[in-house]
Amino acid sequence: MEPSDCTPQFLQQFPHYVTTSALDELRQRDYARLDANHHVYLDYTGAGLYAESQVQAHHQLLSSEVYGNPHSSNPTSIAATRLVEQARQAVLDFFHASPQDYVVIFTANASGALKLVGESYPFSANGHYLLTFDNHNSVNGIREYALAHQAEVTYIPMVLPEMTIDEAKLKHSLTLAKPGEANLFAYPAQSNFSGRRHSLDWIELAHAHGWDVLLDIAAFAPTNPLDLSQHPADFLPISFYKMFGYPTGIGALIARRSALAKLQRPWFAGGTITVASVQGEKHYMAEAPSAFEDGTLNFLSIPAVEIGLKHLSKIGLDVIHERVHDLTGWLLQELQHINHNNGAPVLKIYGPSGAEDRGGTIALNFLDPNGRVIDHRFIEEKANQHKISIRTGCFCNPGAGEIALGISSSELQTCFTRPGHSAHLSYDEYRLCIDGKASGAVRVSVGLVSNFADVQAFIEFAKSLAQ
Ligand SMILES: Cc1ncc(COP(=O)(O)O)c(C=O)c1O
Repeated sequence: MEPSDCTPQFLQQFPHYVTTSALDELRQRDYARLDANHHVYLDYTGAGLYAESQVQAHHQLLSSEVYGNPHSSNPTSIAATRLVEQARQAVLDFFHASPQDYVVIFTANASGALKLVGESYPFSANGHYLLTFDNHNSVNGIREYALAHQAEVTYIPMVLPEMTIDEAKLKHSLTLAKPGEANLFAYPAQSNFSGRRHSLDWIELAHAHGWDVLLDIAAFAPTNPLDLSQHPADFLPISFYKMFGYPTGIGALIARRSALAKLQRPWFAGGTITVASVQGEKHYMAEAPSAFEDGTLNFLSIPAVEIGLKHLSKIGLDVIHERVHDLTGWLLQELQHINHNNGAPVLKIYGPSGAEDRGGTIALNFLDPNGRVIDHRFIEEKANQHKISIRTGCFCNPGAGEIALGISSSELQTCFTRPGHSAHLSYDEYRLCIDGKASGAVRVSVGLVSNFADVQAFIEFAKSLAQ
């Protein structure tokens, strides 16, 4: 689809969209399977899509050389090591991170990167884990390590309807770090629930108060440039399939060397030590990144990360950003005006109402003419019939979900302390607890090769549910 296939109203409102036309050509050339199979793909926050040329380049690389296990000095091992190190450097370059300040640790995914921080951060009874309500569960999960070490855990609430973080509470909470103790502050650069982008200025603000900063960039990095020389967060988890679709199974922890030096690994594994002795009962950790990469790396897939990063750089993140901004702005505007015959809105949209300060992720629920939420599972089934791929549920971000859906802490306490709910709680039991309220939402997300036809298909789909 060329920009000329967009409506004049859209082009008038988003005049810069035409500057992204290279993405239409790219889609035809390199993502032809999307249109050939009549897919409307609107789950980029779930996973990015790969270009066919990425897979071909990777295939070509693997076919042209022999690669052995990197932990050695034989020729095939050296060949693999060279590619892994090249990929590491490519990640640093992509995020403008100097190798003097930052190190890239390859993991299985963003959650793996977060677990590395959680299990190794020196939480103690005087320490503190501060995090926003708006966080992925893999960031929430770090609180279990903090609590196990008797550290204080504090959540900073969100404010409706825009789903911002309560900035006054944030600023107050940042004053609570105990000097010299282990204080970790975690937030997402972009919400995987509402799409809201949170301020990168909080990084230096938190540093000034003595916090290490964990900035979750898993949902941000696919469509926003990030310069770590300007925004020097300490720990940044990432999943590469979210940025460019392929490979899956590779993520990274990008870590600032000064903060990484504080981490204490709870165990050692093959590849993480210089010397380990059985009789001497002693082990010596290797330098980072090896100390944090357990066992054999996914050395055949890691070179595809460099290929993917080059692919994004060639397109230009500013071009992707522009397209995502324009399509999101149009979607938000059009969806807000769809009404039932009685004038009641068909949709309840959560989070920022405009395209500024947000990425290409929109969380919403469909309402019936009486304003009651329609079960998101029903909506997904309906969308499936149109080959529209959306995501439904709470997207592993329960804090944002509870706030958006109006589920109170007392309701949750009552639910979790009910007889029979101490160890197990099924999703259906949870739904009964919140008694008729929506337990989740529908998430629509645009990305790299989304086009006007994709968002228009969803708008038409939403209109078809007006009664
Ligand atoms: C903001 C955010 N953080 C972390 C993750 C975890 O990523 P993964 O499931 O690849 O480990 C996700 C995944 O959706 C995410 O959106």
